[in-house]
Amino acid sequence: MKEHRVVTAYRKYAENYDSAVKLYRLLGLDIDKFRKMAVDALELSKGDTVVELGCGTGLNFSRVIEVIGKEGKLIGVDITDKMLDQARNKVNQNGWKNIELIHSDFADYQFPKELDGIFATGALQYSPHFDKIIKNGYDALKPRKKFVLVDGKMSQGLAKIFAPILLNFTKPFGADKEYLKRQAWKSIEKYFENSTFQEGWGGFLYLSVGTKPS
Ligand SMILES: C[S@@+](CC[C@H](N)C(=O)[O-])C[C@H]1O[C@@H](n2cnc3c(N)ncnc32)[C@H](O)[C@@H]1O
Repeated sequence: MKEHRVVTAYRKYAENYDSAVKLYRLLGLDIDKFRKMAVDALELSKGDTVVELGCGTGLNFSRVIEVIGKEGKLIGVDITDKMLDQARNKVNQNGWKNIELIHSDFADYQFPKELDGIFATGALQYSPHFDKIIKNGYDALKPRKKFVLVDGKMSQGLAKIFAPILLNFTKPFGADKEYLKRQAWKSIEKYFENSTFQEGWGGFLYLSVGTKPS
């Protein structure tokens, strides 16, 4: 696999990632609230099979496992080996037997068929191929199932004066202006006939939910 900028960045921060993301609180962002909103929005049930794109160190795993139970399956895909090492530690420490970790660029990942949910928190817009990924995800979902995104966006409100500070803060994590310019929710709206969009954190964050029709 070709090493890219994002991998270099996340290799450096993998061990401290879980502590480092808490620093977003200094900027007024309760990231945990958005993680919960994302998993709740999937409306999962016991026994479901879910894919998390860009799962990182696995900070969303416990919440998903709580809902899908031992009968379900969670597949975490990430491009950074060292982030997956941290995720694997969590999996082993918690004795989760139903989490599969896949080391891949999510643009190359082939979704299994008949999925009950796909989601990504702070990850999909790293890829210029987000549109194709969302289209492939749509095809892989069962009817009435959801593709959920939490990601960053450029604020259109007064808060946009803080954009330079935010960009500096996220630079070590491999995010740049391109990241914030990508508008993956628009692909959710394009492919999913049913979708919702909600902004948060002064317009710098959004939750987008696409539901496949029956
Ligand atoms: C900000 S972290 C988010 C991790 C996790 N979703 C969370 O909420 O804590 C972004 C993650 O996306 C992964 N990532 C970025 N681009 C990717 C790509 N093209 N394919 C797979 N993973 C990618 C990075 O390696 C990193 O682990």
